[in-house]
Amino acid sequence: MSTGQRHNALSSTTNIPRRLEKKKRNTMSAVMEKVHDKLSQAGDAIQDSSLLSNAKVASIKADMVDGHAKSQKMTTDFGVTLPETASNAWLRVVDGEGRQGPMLLEDSIGREKIHRFDHERIPERVVHARGAGAFGYFKLKESAEDVTHANVLTNTSLTTPVFVRFSTVLGSRGSADTVRDVRGFAVKFYTQEGNWDIVGNDIPVFFIQDAIKFPDLIHAAKPEPDNEVPQGQSAHNNFWDFNILHSEATHMLMWAMSDRGIPRSYRMMQGFGVNTFTLTNAAGERSFVKFHFKPELGVHSLVWDEALKISGQDPDFHRKDLEEAIKNGAPAKWDFGIQVISESQQDAFEFDILDATKIWPEELVPVRYIGELVLDRCVDEYFSQTEQVAFCTSHVVPGIGFSDDPLLQGRNFSYFDTQITRLGINWQELPINRPVCPYLNMNRDGAMRHRITKGKVNYWPNRFEGTAPVRTAEEASAIPAYKEYPQQVVGIKQRLQAPKFKEHFNQATLFWNSMTAIEKLHIIKAFSFELSHCDDEAVFNNACARLADIDVELAKAVAEKVGGVMPDQLSGSRRQNHGKKSAFLSQMVFIPKEPTIKSRRVAILIADGYDKAFVTAAKAALTAAGAVPLVIGPKRSYIYAEGETRGTKGHGVWADHHFEDQRSTLFDAVLLPPGSHATSLTTNGRVIHWIKESFGHLKPIGAVGSSVKLVKKALLPLVEAADEDSREVVDSYGVVTVGGLDGGITEALNIVKGAKSFMGSFAYRISMHRCWERELEGLVDQVAF
Ligand code: HEM
Repeated sequence: MSTGQRHNALSSTTNIPRRLEKKKRNTMSAVMEKVHDKLSQAGDAIQDSSLLSNAKVASIKADMVDGHAKSQKMTTDFGVTLPETASNAWLRVVDGEGRQGPMLLEDSIGREKIHRFDHERIPERVVHARGAGAFGYFKLKESAEDVTHANVLTNTSLTTPVFVRFSTVLGSRGSADTVRDVRGFAVKFYTQEGNWDIVGNDIPVFFIQDAIKFPDLIHAAKPEPDNEVPQGQSAHNNFWDFNILHSEATHMLMWAMSDRGIPRSYRMMQGFGVNTFTLTNAAGERSFVKFHFKPELGVHSLVWDEALKISGQDPDFHRKDLEEAIKNGAPAKWDFGIQVISESQQDAFEFDILDATKIWPEELVPVRYIGELVLDRCVDEYFSQTEQVAFCTSHVVPGIGFSDDPLLQGRNFSYFDTQITRLGINWQELPINRPVCPYLNMNRDGAMRHRITKGKVNYWPNRFEGTAPVRTAEEASAIPAYKEYPQQVVGIKQRLQAPKFKEHFNQATLFWNSMTAIEKLHIIKAFSFELSHCDDEAVFNNACARLADIDVELAKAVAEKVGGVMPDQLSGSRRQNHGKKSAFLSQMVFIPKEPTIKSRRVAILIADGYDKAFVTAAKAALTAAGAVPLVIGPKRSYIYAEGETRGTKGHGVWADHHFEDQRSTLFDAVLLPPGSHATSLTTNGRVIHWIKESFGHLKPIGAVGSSVKLVKKALLPLVEAADEDSREVVDSYGVVTVGGLDGGITEALNIVKGAKSFMGSFAYRISMHRCWERELEGLVDQVAF
């Protein structure tokens, strides 16, 4: 058979399936368009409106091209227009009969394409490899001129563009978002005086006090060297071995094992600069500072079982959450604050203020909230922005400086250095990294230099007086130059720590004492999970012994669970719990100013026969309150209400997802509308599992009318549920039920404690995030989920 014959035979056998395939593809793409249309239209409008006012986005625009452009045709990297055949076939020899011969190395178009593909990857970050970013702005609300002369912190008329990258620490770039880990919270402020980076975390302290230990910490925490297991997990021998051998890590371990380690959303985390920096005011007075970000939506976490499941069900959960919120018009917001200690007070505390394993308790050093950080624009391209962004703790602006914090000093070296490997020496020229203010100096050349600096000289001083540094006082008052604080230094050069760095337990106990009952329970469960994954007896026994230095009850509870050494089996005397608490450590104190359900995802479960009036009104009420209601049905297709006719135009509602493709884990609450559909839903095991799992993960569940029987089937006798003919709303452990709603849902949502209406009670429960009593009272332990 000739090549031509073979071709014809192939096409005739594939024609029919291809037609079907095409039809299917068209239906699918219509579906996808439907699902994404609303989201992207809203998102684009919001994104474009912020374009106008943001100097950074404007500066990046110069490097931007439109990947959807219709008028621009495909070219080589050097601008030669490509014919369509070049995207399908390598240049080759074909004989007169159509028989295929050798491919030619001459094909420079083919070679260019493969070359570029071969080198698409760059080294991932050595830590914090997985992340998500967004653009936004920083608005100063109150001047901090008493402590700094930095324009960004003194000029309240300024709006400073920012880029923020959130990350996990341990996992590689393709790892899951919801693992137990510290989250990076890195902010780049594009100020008029240069770039200022706060390269922080969602936890205010760190594992180690001295940068020289960082490589060991990370080696121990990353997958083990013999088998590269486990990925993105701290639950393994080496992590615990290293950290227990370092008693300075004790405080950090408490935070990491708390719910802070599994945030619900990047938008619901605090951010901390962690290290101690300095501020200098116009009078030349210096003080010490720590930076804080407090989320508008409050601090909220997942529960562990949920986090584990999401790791498989939707590993991109956090990055999607950030994008969905911004595109739905719910920008992420934080109050920005500073804690300041004057030079004269630096020795006044029982801890060393330069020790990154210690907080400055807010009772002693209140946070002064002076500005707002807002993220309102998604990235345009992940690689060129989120991946290529490079943060450095050493990026400060005039008025902000470094302290002698021994962790910070090492970080100041490390970031620039690693970025040379990751991005090359000219990484600062990449659009995402370059400042919005003018910059010019005598640094030259190196791989991938973009900038073309004209002129005769590349050195200073030069005969043209070209590109001079600021030399006079007059010049300095017009263009503030960076000036180091003339700090006096006396001492002996040696490898030694200051005495206060040697105390490692007081704040770990303070943290434990400050937790609510549910947070303590979660910490015990987290330690128990992690240490049960350590199979080396020395490791889990040492860890249990360490816990006895924090609190005996904690140590007992964990040791019992993991089969570790009990506190009373330990030799020698143990530390006593000092009994002190702080009112600012429990995440439960960080709640929104007003109860809100903004950006919360609510699953509305329906099947054919649902009550249309209810679903329409409930969706409208939830949307108006800023929530994201999504309809989940047996299939992603039209689902018909009671009285509607299948296939009739205007009838049916399109389900956003089906019961299998999304799970309860991906939502904050579940709503079960009334209607005859309840009969089929009651016999659907997956739907019953949705309810049980939501209950197990402490989420609000709402059910109306006939759907109350779903709740009864899944959860009786653990909760009470309304009678089907009753009009009284029953809220039993966050399971809100009512037999019927005379007149349906008519009012706008009033999200207040003690709300009387069904939707009001349900929404208030959503605003409370979770119903902790279910777990505290042992109900969760009785449900299979
Ligand atoms: C207070 C403790 C620390 C905090 C809060 C912290 C935070 C961060 C964050 C947020 C990132 C991710 C930046 C991004 O999104 O691109 C990061 C990356 C990194 N950190 Fe740290 N870190 C800490 C300690 C250290 C120390 C002690 C070192 C080394 C001495 C270090 C070295 C690195 C390196 C090499 C990267 C990768 C940077 C890149 O490739 O762009 N970190 N860190």
